[in-house]
Amino acid sequence: MKTIAVLTSGGDSPGMNACLRAVAKFAAARGVHVLGALEGYEGLIDDRFRELTRVSGGGVAADLELDVVGGMGGTLIGSARSARFREALFRQKAFENLKARGVEGLIVIGGNGSLTGAHLLAQETGFKTMGIPGSIDNDIGCTATCLGVDTALNTIVEACDKISDTARAHRRAFVVEVMGRDSGYLAMASAVAVAADAALLREQGKTDEQLVAEVANVVRKGFARGKRRVLVIKAEGIGMATTKLVKDVEQAMHAELPGLEIRATVLGHVVRGGNPTYQDRSIAGRLGAVAVQALLEGGTDEMVAWQSRVPGGTATLDPFIHRFKLDVVLKETAALIDGTSPVMQGRLKLMQMAADVLPL
Ligand code: F6P
Repeated sequence: MKTIAVLTSGGDSPGMNACLRAVAKFAAARGVHVLGALEGYEGLIDDRFRELTRVSGGGVAADLELDVVGGMGGTLIGSARSARFREALFRQKAFENLKARGVEGLIVIGGNGSLTGAHLLAQETGFKTMGIPGSIDNDIGCTATCLGVDTALNTIVEACDKISDTARAHRRAFVVEVMGRDSGYLAMASAVAVAADAALLREQGKTDEQLVAEVANVVRKGFARGKRRVLVIKAEGIGMATTKLVKDVEQAMHAELPGLEIRATVLGHVVRGGNPTYQDRSIAGRLGAVAVQALLEGGTDEMVAWQSRVPGGTATLDPFIHRFKLDVVLKETAALIDGTSPVMQGRLKLMQMAADVLPL
């Protein structure tokens, strides 16, 4: 291969830039040029690219700007959720643009929808594609983590520490909502790290009444024990609005605790930004390098996965990384979301154990 392309797609996640940097450097070291498609699949369809490598001193070298942005959040080449790429007609157009530019392989950094696009492109056109899991939601099958998850968790921990300071000053309860779409992973993992009193996840399948009763219960018990802060982490995937939940709990407890003050904080997109942590930079670099290597070895329609617990992947030079066929990844991703995956059942069991311990 002489030229490959890379794109970042879907919700951006910290570590995408570090991954682009690794892809460009690793490819350049092997004499391979890298084009970055601008704004994900939209750039492929409209033939909009940026060179991420240059000819330099008779060889190939990475664009120097990647050194600048490699330690930053967001993505240098932009991201988008492409509705057009869901249509075969536009996938064909993207394929023709890639061929016309002499591109022989494509690395896709993104989540569920982005990896589905890579799978369809490979299946329909035979173009070589390699996925890298990038999503703060940690809802991608076959991989223990995705780019951005560690940074997002650190951001949540930092925010909750700050909220805890002010909560203790006023003897207040807080319900903090964290991103994650349908996945409760960020809420679950951060709740343990910040010693929250409870974590509310879509996957637990609780009704609105049960959510109100659970929050009222931890608030009641916490303040009765003399706690000055009661903290509940709520996953975005729960349908009930955080402000409504807080209002309903205050109303339900008005008679027993007339002066009770509960505050709602929705962290929102704050959780998706910021400089990637060491862990995200490191994983980004290693997944990026292995993805390039996999394409050069003729691999296609696969994803490189970090510390997978799912059997059946292909070993790589990096003992922490295995390659999985994208159809396997996408099936496991669906099972994570609908709760049938043993990985999700294991996570929920751990959360159930933690639920008894958290309020103590
Ligand atoms: O998938 C990443 C994510 O940040 C989700 O956690 C969230 O639900 C969604 O994207 C938000 O998307 P947007 O930036 O389009 O509002």
